[in-house]
Amino acid sequence: MTEHAPAAQPTAAATTQPAPAGSWPRWPVGVEGLAYGGDYNPEQWPLATRVEDVELMREAGVNLVSVAIFSWAMLEPREGEYDWEWLDDVLDRLHGAGIRVALATATASPPPWLTRYHPEILPELADGTVLHQGGRQAYRVSSPVLREYALRMTRRMAERYGQHPALALWHVDNELGCHVPHDFSDDAAAAFRRWLEARYGTVDALNAAWGTAFWSQRYDSFDEVLPPRTAPTFANPTQQLDFARYSSDELLTHYRALRDVLREVTPHVPTTTNLMVSTGTKWMDYFSWSADLDVVANDHYLRAHDPEGHVELAFSADLTRGVAGGAPWILMEHSTSAVNWQPRNRAKGPGEMLRNSLAHVARGADAVMFFQWRQSVAGAEKFHSAMLPHAGTDTQVWRNTVALGEALRALAPVRGSRVHADAAIVFDYEAWWGAELDSHPTQALRYPNEVLAWYRQLWHRGITVDLVRPGADLSAYRLVVVPTLYLVSDDDAARVSAAAEAGATVLVTYCSGIADENDHVRAGGYPGAFRELLGVRTEEIWALQDGEHVVVDDGATADLWTEQTHLAGAEAVRRYASGPLTGWPAVTRREVSAGTAWYVGTRLDELGASRLVDELLGEAGVLPVVPAVPAGVEVVRRRGEAASDGSAASFLFVINHTDADVAVAAEGVDLLTGAAADTEVTVPAFGVAVVQETAPAR
Ligand code: GLA
Repeated sequence: MTEHAPAAQPTAAATTQPAPAGSWPRWPVGVEGLAYGGDYNPEQWPLATRVEDVELMREAGVNLVSVAIFSWAMLEPREGEYDWEWLDDVLDRLHGAGIRVALATATASPPPWLTRYHPEILPELADGTVLHQGGRQAYRVSSPVLREYALRMTRRMAERYGQHPALALWHVDNELGCHVPHDFSDDAAAAFRRWLEARYGTVDALNAAWGTAFWSQRYDSFDEVLPPRTAPTFANPTQQLDFARYSSDELLTHYRALRDVLREVTPHVPTTTNLMVSTGTKWMDYFSWSADLDVVANDHYLRAHDPEGHVELAFSADLTRGVAGGAPWILMEHSTSAVNWQPRNRAKGPGEMLRNSLAHVARGADAVMFFQWRQSVAGAEKFHSAMLPHAGTDTQVWRNTVALGEALRALAPVRGSRVHADAAIVFDYEAWWGAELDSHPTQALRYPNEVLAWYRQLWHRGITVDLVRPGADLSAYRLVVVPTLYLVSDDDAARVSAAAEAGATVLVTYCSGIADENDHVRAGGYPGAFRELLGVRTEEIWALQDGEHVVVDDGATADLWTEQTHLAGAEAVRRYASGPLTGWPAVTRREVSAGTAWYVGTRLDELGASRLVDELLGEAGVLPVVPAVPAGVEVVRRRGEAASDGSAASFLFVINHTDADVAVAAEGVDLLTGAAADTEVTVPAFGVAVVQETAPAR
């Protein structure tokens, strides 16, 4: 348990000079083709098992594993005393087998000695409850003490393994903010105040932004400000919003601090951390994180209760591509079968693991990785599936693991190709935070459900969608959907208007444009920021009770939220046909220069939304990836970089989520089977085909 010489000697690449900004590699170094592997936790196993692990990884075609994510207590069992030998051995063995390593900073779970001697690093809930050690992630990122220890461990790892030949990628901490997105401790209060001072400059500006004339909340100095700790009633909404912004920024600040050490010591190795982009992760504004990641990496798990979990998976993958700015990304974790942390955990059915994995690839992932390599026999995750299950290699899961490795090898030509979309949905974390604040017309609104509902309509029609942040350049899209964008800045709203003016069909849905970025209502009628574009003015919101619905004049129904909307340049496309707003417009349309702007002031049912989407697609001229996509089948195209004549390789992913064989128009060769597709490809029940198309895309 003492220090010894580094496992590998520094090479010429070694330097202590920071690399020039932006020059860091953007992909795990030395990984050929698509990356395949998972979290590998060798510290849970004896040597004989670790030897077998490497043999089996080779059998499965694994070429990248994430190591040492939760190893701090094993690497530094006592303060300042290090035990590197086991990890040296693991890395050397992996290297000997040609397997590359995404090495963690090992900081994701502080060792018990650290929280014993420094309980001041423990996080606190809004009511003052301290979250103790014994699980994981028991730290507050705002703690200078935690920061110092985490930086020290990170530097040790970088100095020890920075020149190890297996090192391909740095993995900073793990799922930052997963268990503790918000910390309300005194350290957090101090950091929040610093953040506010940087944002507002003066306390007067903070008072104005927070509207503190209300309820005697005026602050005389920043020192009086607190995080929104448990209070007798609703905390100031802008305080809540800014605390969410601060918390996301503070986690990112922690990432940056650790990353900067890695860049200083190992400028030849890219750095990332695993995000949790999905409809379930609310509190990290990943659009604002991605510029700091050399390559975007994401973890995604299916929601067992959702019969269309594969649609939510597709949504998350498209959103990850949006966060990555369209660049290839790493699927850092998903599951081979059941997880262990949902109320009822479902094992995956026939072909589901392959379909899930290749759906991520179809939507831009160039790496498929799992939690975890070998299923644990002890600890809180022993019932979580793995690539190598408890029951061993004579299992369907293991056969799936080997088959997926083969499939990914066959798909090597796909690497680096990109997805193109004519339709975009605007997605915004701040609008999510704002829309779900307390003291609103309804507490029943769930932002991701609203976005997912429109996404689902497009998924079922085989339409590829980009998920983009507000403020993105929307001018190339034919259809732009802006669901429930409760708060929006003037500039971002102008981008939406510009898209309509440039010829797009734009749909804005209820509870949009109401507030500015300080959560102040834009007076004069809703939907504030979009009133002029849409040619409407809502006088009053009529939220509906649980189970209550109204009828719309095309026979559809609507629930949750209705609006008393005046026409101010738009025409009414649908009107309410029952309830207190009978006769008032429910859906409107306005012609805007070259495009159109539609507004739907309520939550339409499936029938209503479906009819509306058909109209919008017809008007916008947006087509599915191939004609006549069969129900339950996912079709996505990735295109390679264009050659000088404009042609590019193209890959058609056809994922069959149904229990019947399907045929889809395609011409080329199925990379998974080697079979030629002359006019169509037949995809077996629950199967996948990836056709390298004969006619290159242009
Ligand atoms: C997250 C974590 C992993 C593991 C998995 C289980 O993604 O990063 O360490 O806990 O969840 O699904």
